Formats: sequence, C-alpha cells, structure tokens
Amino acid sequence: MKQMINIALPKGRLGEKVYDIFEKAGYDCPSIRENNRKLIFENEVNGVRYFWVKPSDVAIYVERGAADIGVAGKDILLEYSPDVYELLDLGMGKCRMAVAAEKGFRDNTAQTLRVATKFPNIAKKFYSEKSREIDIIKLNGSIELAPILHLSDVIVDIVETGTTLRENNLEPLETIVPISARLIANKVSYKFKNAQITALCEKIKLNCDTVVK
Ligand code: PRP
Repeated sequence: MKQMINIALPKGRLGEKVYDIFEKAGYDCPSIRENNRKLIFENEVNGVRYFWVKPSDVAIYVERGAADIGVAGKDILLEYSPDVYELLDLGMGKCRMAVAAEKGFRDNTAQTLRVATKFPNIAKKFYSEKSREIDIIKLNGSIELAPILHLSDVIVDIVETGTTLRENNLEPLETIVPISARLIANKVSYKFKNAQITALCEKIKLNCDTVVK
C-alpha cells in the first residue's frame, strides 16, 4: 500500500491558495473543496492527507512529525526557529516584517524604546544588532493600537498592503525582513519519505510560477 504524505495547510485564504498549488501539481483531494467544518481530508489514490491547521501552529505539527510537510510563513519560522527543513519558497503570502510608529515619531536614543509585537524574538534580534536597548511588550493582535494608546513607542509587525497602518495614522519606519510562505518538512519524514517528498517538490516547482527557484 502507498505510504501517505501528511500535509499541514494554514487555515484561511493563504491555505486555499496553497491547496490550489498542490492540486495543480497533481495532489488533489476533492473533498477539501466541500464547505464543511472537517479538518482532515485524504485521497488514498494520490497518497495525500491534508489537515487544516492554525497558520501559526503549522511548524509545530511538522516539527513533531504529526505532519510530514506543511506550509508556514517565514515570520513564524524566524520567530520560533522550529527544527525543520525549509524546502521551497512558494513566493506567495508575500508581506514584510517592519517597524512602524505614529507619524512624526522621532526615536529618543537616551530612552529605552518600548516595542509592542507578536514577534518578540524577531524584534529582540533586530534591535540587539543595532545595540538599541528595548522593552518588549508582547501582544497577541491589534498591535497597531499600542502606539496610538501610548502603550509603546513603536511596533514590529507584519505589513502587507499597509492599509492597517494608514488607517490608524501610523507609518512604516524600517523593513526588517521580507516574508513569504515556505514549504517545510519534518526531518525524519524527509529521510524516510524522501522519494515522495522530493517528487512533490519537483511537481510543485514545475506547476507553480510563483516558486522562487
Ligand atoms: C496582520 C498584521 C497587521 C495587518 C497588516 O494582522 O498584524 O495588523 O495584518 O495587513 P495590511 O498591511 O494589509 O493592512 P492580522 O490580520 O493577522 O490580525 P491581528 O494581528 O490583529 O490578529
């Protein structure tokens, strides 16, 4: 019997685009298109089993081997440094990690900079390379509120279209790193299901014109 490849997809809009790529590459699983609340779908003929996972959890499923491969944002990979292989840059879900602040903000280097973020490790690394002393304020969402309410001086957050910043009278100051969706693999699975995973990567490269080669 064919060994199944277990694939963790990020739930949501990006995940649907990612599934389109897998489908185009020949790993379709029609039941996934049915609009229901199921989280696991499989197609034995193609040897694939898909899971819808919260985007920030994909790397955990893959690192621990609950999924053989998955698609995670580079932001999550940089923040949590999971012990996985990064196989492909899918070139989708593009955005950037940036520092932003209220319009007209001037950094007073005599004071500790208060940084609100969902990504404390990325923020700490960025400022430690500049030898800038900071105070991290870890939040879980609506980060843009922090400078407006003077909870922080700046934010470190994802900027995609820039609309959230603009609509809240904030402006980007610096880009920390560009972000995109990456295909990742569990290290043990990569060894034991190597032929299947390699074949899948090749088919995705052939069929997806956004993949960074
Ligand atoms: C992300 C990010 C920004 C917004 C950026 O938030 O944290 O708030 O998207 O997108 P834009 O530049 O296109 O406006 P998300 O929707 O994930 O919500 P949350 O962080 O507030 O939970």
